Amino acid sequence: MRFAQFLLKNGSIAVIPRLVERFSKFSPSPLSMKQFIDFGSANACEKTSFVFLRQELPVRLANIMKEIDFLPDKLLNTPSLKLLTSWYSQSLMEIVEFLEKDPYDKEVLTNFTKTLVTVRNRHNDVVSTMAQGVVEYKEAFGVDPVTNQNVQYFLDRFYMSRISTRMLMNQHTLIFNGSVNPAHPKHIGSIDPSCDVVEVVKDAFESSKMLCEQYYLTSPDMEITQVNAQNSDQPLHIVYVPSHLYHMLFELFKNAMRATVETHESSLTLPPIKVRVSLGTEDLTIKMSDRGGGVPLRKIERLFSYMYSTAPSPVHTDNSRNAPLAGFGYGLPISRLYAKYFQGDLQLFSMEGHGSSAVIYLKAMSSESVERLPVFNKSALRHYQSSLEADDWCMPSREPKKLGKYERSH
Ligand SMILES: Nc1ncnc2c1ncn2[C@@H]1O[C@H](COP(=O)(O)OP(=O)(O)O)[C@@H](O)[C@H]1O
Ligand SMILES: [Mg+2]
Repeated sequence: MRFAQFLLKNGSIAVIPRLVERFSKFSPSPLSMKQFIDFGSANACEKTSFVFLRQELPVRLANIMKEIDFLPDKLLNTPSLKLLTSWYSQSLMEIVEFLEKDPYDKEVLTNFTKTLVTVRNRHNDVVSTMAQGVVEYKEAFGVDPVTNQNVQYFLDRFYMSRISTRMLMNQHTLIFNGSVNPAHPKHIGSIDPSCDVVEVVKDAFESSKMLCEQYYLTSPDMEITQVNAQNSDQPLHIVYVPSHLYHMLFELFKNAMRATVETHESSLTLPPIKVRVSLGTEDLTIKMSDRGGGVPLRKIERLFSYMYSTAPSPVHTDNSRNAPLAGFGYGLPISRLYAKYFQGDLQLFSMEGHGSSAVIYLKAMSSESVERLPVFNKSALRHYQSSLEADDWCMPSREPKKLGKYERSH
């Protein structure tokens, strides 16, 4: 809270609402993979990137800050949310200060990069802080379907906005720090122009396997099949952010392994997790199937809900060695956001009693991989103003009418 006090003392907190008004009037400008690559190519120009970001970052921040204002007061007033909104205000102010600065001044560019690093670090704990706020709200006021729906709508947009601003800040700081990444000289910032999907699958599998073995002293194997419809002998490459893909796969593997081990506790062998990767002309699809008993259809939607997530929130642990196999139930919803960020998707199909298949869809062509960004406008506003209305589908009566043993329903 120190920052809020500082602002009050300096009177500058008064400018925040005006800044938010001003920048939320603009729509964010989604970038394509090609544009990201061009920013980092040989003739990359730090000035151009600077001039773009000093406008675009405030626009993206202000658009989502407008939506934060529409959250229920009871959620906004939790200590977590107060802290979180102070971070957004502070970051907005720090970036906006560069609007008057001269792009031809080397020192300005250096300071801008430093500011981006500061902003990125300040927002490191946004997801857990927001989750904490939701838990506080839930404990005090419970969950109703309307709040759940609003919070779901908001958080998908809020976390997506965060993925996008971090992407922009990462690209700028990685590309213009004056050195190439020795481990990945061909990468452009966080983008691998020739991302070997199967390699990332194997990496994610290995990390998850290590966790699983630590926890259960056993883990299922993986069987991987690849199909390249374009070029049958070639490895499957796409232009993508390997860390995003890794994040999704790691989450899916942890879920698949946990389900597999827990449903086969009494058997000597574990059925393998089967992964199939297929590259078509439009989609790159990754399907991960386990025999972990599945989930009933009724519950599938809830697995993606931030408010109905089952596990209690873990104590803050930054120690990755203790990273648990299951967290606070954000694995699936956040992974789906990463997939959607570049116009893909993530879906979960289940056969209760048998197992589940999680499918990641990504765009095969980089020209189709364009950022998917929330914009604050009238239709967004309408979502926050919806109230509890009667369902427009009939509800089944609670006690199904018992039919006689030989009575047929038709
Ligand atoms: N492959 C799967 N098989 C069975 N249940 C699953 C599977 N994947 C996810 N689930 C269920 O969905 C829940 C939510 O998953 P997730 O979002 O990753 O959060 P977490 O793993 O932290 O609980 C899990 O707790 C589990 O009950
Ligand atoms: Mg999980």
